[in-house]
Amino acid sequence: MNFKGRDIISIKDFSKAEINHILECSKKMVPYAKGEKYTNILKGRVLSSLFFEPSTRTRLSFESAMNRLGGRVIGFSDPSGTSQKKGESLADTIRMADSYSDVIVVRHPQEGAARLAAEFADVPVLNAGDGAGRHPTQCLLDLFTILTEKKKIEKNKIVLLGDLKYGRTVHSLAYALSLYGVELTFVSPGSLKMPKEVINECKELGVEPRSTSSLEKAISDADVLYVTRIQKERFPDAEEYNRVVGIYKVDNDLLKHARKDIIVMHPLPRVTEIKPEVDKTPHALYFKQAFNGVPVRMALLSLISGGRL
Ligand code: CP
Repeated sequence: MNFKGRDIISIKDFSKAEINHILECSKKMVPYAKGEKYTNILKGRVLSSLFFEPSTRTRLSFESAMNRLGGRVIGFSDPSGTSQKKGESLADTIRMADSYSDVIVVRHPQEGAARLAAEFADVPVLNAGDGAGRHPTQCLLDLFTILTEKKKIEKNKIVLLGDLKYGRTVHSLAYALSLYGVELTFVSPGSLKMPKEVINECKELGVEPRSTSSLEKAISDADVLYVTRIQKERFPDAEEYNRVVGIYKVDNDLLKHARKDIIVMHPLPRVTEIKPEVDKTPHALYFKQAFNGVPVRMALLSLISGGRL
């Protein structure tokens, strides 16, 4: 298995065996991610962190991961402070980062931007989310969270809830979970259904997802409830957003209809879709899930840089 120098644009860039290897490496990274052990395997390496769209978890966990591996980080979190403001193209910005660093992490509002970036860079490019497209490193940390909590990914009953149309995390995750033969149920407002293209990908892998608008029914025998935010910024029409926002709420009353060991995940940020009262219950996995971004991204950075623990 060779990861050195590879771009990570879509979860589909990896075979199931490669995903399993990344998850194994991520487990080894946990004590380093927590600061209980130290390593300098990427000492002297520089990561460009180019965020053309807001982020808390993805940016900070990538930067934490690089620092924990002994490397350094350059970049920006707001393109308004860059020469994009003067009209510079994405391609030219990427050319510059390519010459200043050993690996590029890019988040961009346009679908396909990360793949375009990879064409203009010799160093590896990691997609940190491209519009409503894909978010492969989030997908890997989601798989890692399910594996860690449920001891296996296979055969779990998983409900994906919320904005399944524009939600890039659920697009990547539905595909990847299908590699493991899980049972998938999609719950969303009618206008935010999972795209046909993603459903067909699941079917090609032998998984027949169910769709329903009844959340209570869907969670009654589920192992995992994966909640997503209705993303205001992706709606072409504000009125349509207002029609669907707040349609589903996860609270302690709802969870009375679920199994005692159901875990609630969310890529975050959340707004109103999970009530804070859930945070104190054993179901709430979303903050641990967000932490898992550090060991998973440490594993990816070390694998593509050829660094070994
Ligand atoms: N999960 C996720 O992508 O969060 P951020 O937008 O804060 O990076």
